[in-house]
Amino acid sequence: MESIQAIKQRFGIIGNNQALNRAIEKAIQVAPTDISVLVTGESGVGKESIPKIIHQLSHRKHNKYIAVNCGAIPEGTIDSELFGHEKGAFTGATQTREGYFEVADGGTIFLDEVGELPLTTQVRLLRVLENGEFLKVGSSKVQKTDVRIVAATNVNMFEAIEKEKFREDLYYRLSTVDINLPPLRERQEDIHILFRKFASDFALKYKMPTIKLSDNAIQVLLKHRWGGNIRQLRNIAEQLSVLEQNRTVSASTLQGYLPASSGTNLPAVIKTSKSESDFSSEREILYKVLFDMKADLNDLKKLTMELMKNGNVKDVEKNNESLIQKIYGDNDDEDIDFKESNSNNDLIAIAEHNSSKDTPTPVQDKYYFAEEIEEEETLSLHDKELELIKKSLERHNGKRKLAAEELGISERTLYRKIKQFDL
Ligand SMILES: Nc1ncnc2c1ncn2[C@@H]1O[C@H](COP(=O)(O)OP(=O)(O)O)[C@@H](O)[C@H]1O
Ligand SMILES: [Mg+2]
Repeated sequence: MESIQAIKQRFGIIGNNQALNRAIEKAIQVAPTDISVLVTGESGVGKESIPKIIHQLSHRKHNKYIAVNCGAIPEGTIDSELFGHEKGAFTGATQTREGYFEVADGGTIFLDEVGELPLTTQVRLLRVLENGEFLKVGSSKVQKTDVRIVAATNVNMFEAIEKEKFREDLYYRLSTVDINLPPLRERQEDIHILFRKFASDFALKYKMPTIKLSDNAIQVLLKHRWGGNIRQLRNIAEQLSVLEQNRTVSASTLQGYLPASSGTNLPAVIKTSKSESDFSSEREILYKVLFDMKADLNDLKKLTMELMKNGNVKDVEKNNESLIQKIYGDNDDEDIDFKESNSNNDLIAIAEHNSSKDTPTPVQDKYYFAEEIEEEETLSLHDKELELIKKSLERHNGKRKLAAEELGISERTLYRKIKQFDL
C-alpha cells in the first residue's frame, strides 16, 4: 500500500494535519473496494483530490474517471448528461447520446455537490447504485453499467434530508464510508506551508520574485477565519503575487486583502467573500480587473476622440458629463492623478501598458500575466464578464444590490450591463 506521504506527493497535497492524514489514509483503504464514499467538508478544503486518489488506487484506474459538478448542470439537462438520452426524447435531441454512466462503465464517477441533485435524478441514481441499472431519458430499455461512485458535499445533508431536498435512502447508500476534510482554520500548522507553496507556484507562473510574509503578517494569516478555505488562501496568494510591488508583505497590506477589513484598495474578491461565493474560479479577480480596465479604456478612447475632434475642453466636458463620471467614478470620488504611482493606480498602469503596445516600459514584465491569460484561455473578456455577472446574479437569486456589491461595481453600472448583455 502506498504511504500517505507518497500519495500527498503524487496528488500535490500539502500539509501534515492529523485529520488530513486520516482522510487520505481512509481513501487509500477504501480504494480497492467498490464501496461508495461521501467526501464532506466546507467549500475549498480540497475534496476533489479524494475521488482522484480512490480512482487511481483502484482496479478501475485504467478506465474512465468522470467528475460531474451536480450544482453546475441545469436541472433540465442533468438526467440526460448523467444517463444519456434517446433520439427524439425532447426538442433538440436530434441524436442518441451516451450519458456519463454509460461512458464511465468500469470506471469511477465523482458527483461533486451531490446535495444539489434534483429529486427526480436522485431516484435514477439510487437505482443505478442499487443494481447497476439505468434508463436513457426517453427510453424504456434497461441498461447495465458498473460504475463506482464517490460523491462530495459541502452542505449539511441531514438538514437537506429534513427539508426533503435529499432522499434519506440515497444518502445512506452514498455514504457507506464518510471521509471528512477539516476546514483550514482547524489546520493551523498547515496554513503557512500552504501559503509558501502557492507563493512559490505563482512566482514561477508570473515570472516574478516570490512573495514573502513579515512575521506579523504570518500571525494575521494564522488568525484569519478562512471561510473559503484553501481555495481562498490560494486566491490571496495569487493576488499578492500579482499585485504587490513590495515582495515582503506586511500585516496591514495582507489585512487589506482579507474580507473582514475595510478601506481596502482591491476590488471584487474582498466583497465576494462577504457573500456566499466560494471563489469558484480563482481567476475571477484577474478577469474582473482586466475587463474593468478594458471598459475604462474604451470610455477613455471615446473621450480622447471627442477631445481631438472638438478641441474645446469645456464643451467636451459638458457634453460628456455622464461618461466622465463613469470613468472617474461617482461624484464623491477624488480626482485621480494618472501620474501618481500609488498602488491604487497600478491597475491604471496596466491599462496604459496594454494600450501602448509599441512602447515597452518596465511595467511590461510585471504585468506579463495579462497577455498570458489571453493566450491560455480562449474565452474572450466579454464572455468572461458576462459569465461573472450571471454567476453573481445567480448566487444572489437575482438581487442586483448584492451582486453589484460582490462585483465591486455600482448598482447603476450593473443595471447598464444587464441591459447591454440582455440578461
Ligand atoms: N492540501 C492541499 N494542498 C495543496 N492544494 C490544495 C490542498 N487542498 C486544496 N488545495 C487546492 O485548493 C483548491 C480547492 O480545492 P478543491 O478540491 O477544489 O476544494 P473543494 O472541492 O473542497 O471545494 C484547489 O486549487 C486545490 O488544488
Ligand atoms: Mg469542489
